[in-house]
Amino acid sequence: MRRALPALVIAFALSAVAFAQPKAVTGPAFEQDTFGKLPPTKDKNGKETPGPIVTRYTLVNKNGMVVKCIEYGAIITEIHVPDKSGKTADVALGFDTLADYLKGHPYFGANAGRCANRIANGKFTLDGKEYKLAPNDKPHSLHGGKEGFDKKFWRGEPMLTATGPSVKFTYTSPDGEEGYPGRLSVTMSYTLTDNNEIVIDYRATTDKPTVCNLAHHSYFNLAGHNAGDIKGHELTIAAKHYTPGDETLIPTGKIEPVAGTPFDFTKAKPMGRDLEKAGGKPVGFDLNYVLDKGQTARPELAARVVEPKSGRVMEVLTTEPGLQFYTGNFLDGSNKGKGGAVYRQYNGFCLEAQKFPDSVNKPEWKDKSNVVLRPGETYKQTTIYQFSVVK
Ligand code: BGC
Repeated sequence: MRRALPALVIAFALSAVAFAQPKAVTGPAFEQDTFGKLPPTKDKNGKETPGPIVTRYTLVNKNGMVVKCIEYGAIITEIHVPDKSGKTADVALGFDTLADYLKGHPYFGANAGRCANRIANGKFTLDGKEYKLAPNDKPHSLHGGKEGFDKKFWRGEPMLTATGPSVKFTYTSPDGEEGYPGRLSVTMSYTLTDNNEIVIDYRATTDKPTVCNLAHHSYFNLAGHNAGDIKGHELTIAAKHYTPGDETLIPTGKIEPVAGTPFDFTKAKPMGRDLEKAGGKPVGFDLNYVLDKGQTARPELAARVVEPKSGRVMEVLTTEPGLQFYTGNFLDGSNKGKGGAVYRQYNGFCLEAQKFPDSVNKPEWKDKSNVVLRPGETYKQTTIYQFSVVK
C-alpha cells in the first residue's frame, strides 16, 4: 500500500480529468465519494456506536468501462459496458441509495458468505461437533445466515495495481457469528483491467476449523439492468454434469449428466428456451453446475453469455469447481431499482462461482468441493467477469 500511494494521488488527479470530460478518458482512474451512512448499533448494555460512513469507489478503464462498488457488503452497484456500437449501458441490477440496499434485497451485487448457497436444515457437524445456523431460508440456512457478509461493513482501500484500478475490502467475522466457529479474516478485491475484466480475488484465514465458501452474486442483464427479461441471452456452460436438488434446492448428493435434460448448456442456448422445462418453485434455472475443469489453481473458462441485440458478451472464468446458474426466479417487482427500474421475474441472471451447495453435509464430495478451512490454511478464489462484444 505504501508504494501505491503516489500512484493513488495520480489516479485521483486523472479521475478528476476523466469525470470532467468523460470522452477524454485515456487511462485507468478511480474516484471515491460518500454513498451514505449506516445506522448506529447498540451493544448488549445499550451503548450506542455511530454507524460508519459508506464510501463508494468508481473504477474506470481506458475503454470507458466503469465499475462502482461500496463498503456495505462490498457490493458492486453499477457496471457500465459498451455494446457493439460503443454505446454504454449499466448491466448490473442494483439501487441508487444506501437506504434502498438496507431495506433488504436478494443479494444484488453482493458477496455471499461465510458459506454461499444452502446448508441443509441449518446444521452441520465438523470434527464431531454439531453447529446450528439461522434457518433464514426455512428450514435451511442460505448465503451465510440472517446477517451474512452481504450485510456487513467492509473497510475499503483503493489501490492502483499493475493491471488496473482496484479496491481491496476487508472484513473480520467474529468466532460464533451466525453460528459458525472460528474468527474468519477475509479480504477481497475488485480490479478493473483494460481488457474489460472485473477480477475478483478472495482470501480468508481462520483461527479454528470452520466452513468457508464465498461467492459473488451480481445479477446481470447484458441489454441493460432495466431492459426486461434475459430469456434471449445465449448461454454456454463448460459443464457436462450438475448436482440435482430436491424441491427446496438441497442437492441429493448425486452428480448427474446434463445431456438430455433442460439443464444442458454445453452448446450455446437461449436462457429462455428450456426455462419452463427447468421446473422448480418458482419455475426457472437455479442449480449448481459441476464445471468440467474442477477446482483449479488459476481461473479457467466456466461460462459465456452473449446478448445478441447489443452484441455484449460476458465470460466467467474461475478457480472454483461449481457454478450456480440462477435466472432471478424469485424477483417479483417489489425491488425498485436504479432510476426507478422495476426488477421482475427473469429480469436478471446470476452466474455464481463457488463450491457446491451443502458441501459441508456431503462427505462424498470432499475431493471435488471441500468447504472446510483450518488454521494455517488460506482460502483462495479468483473469479473474472470479462466483457467484450460480437458484431
Ligand atoms: C440461489 C437462489 C436464491 C438467490 C437469492 C441464489 O444464489 O441459488 O436459490 O433465491 O440466490 O437471491
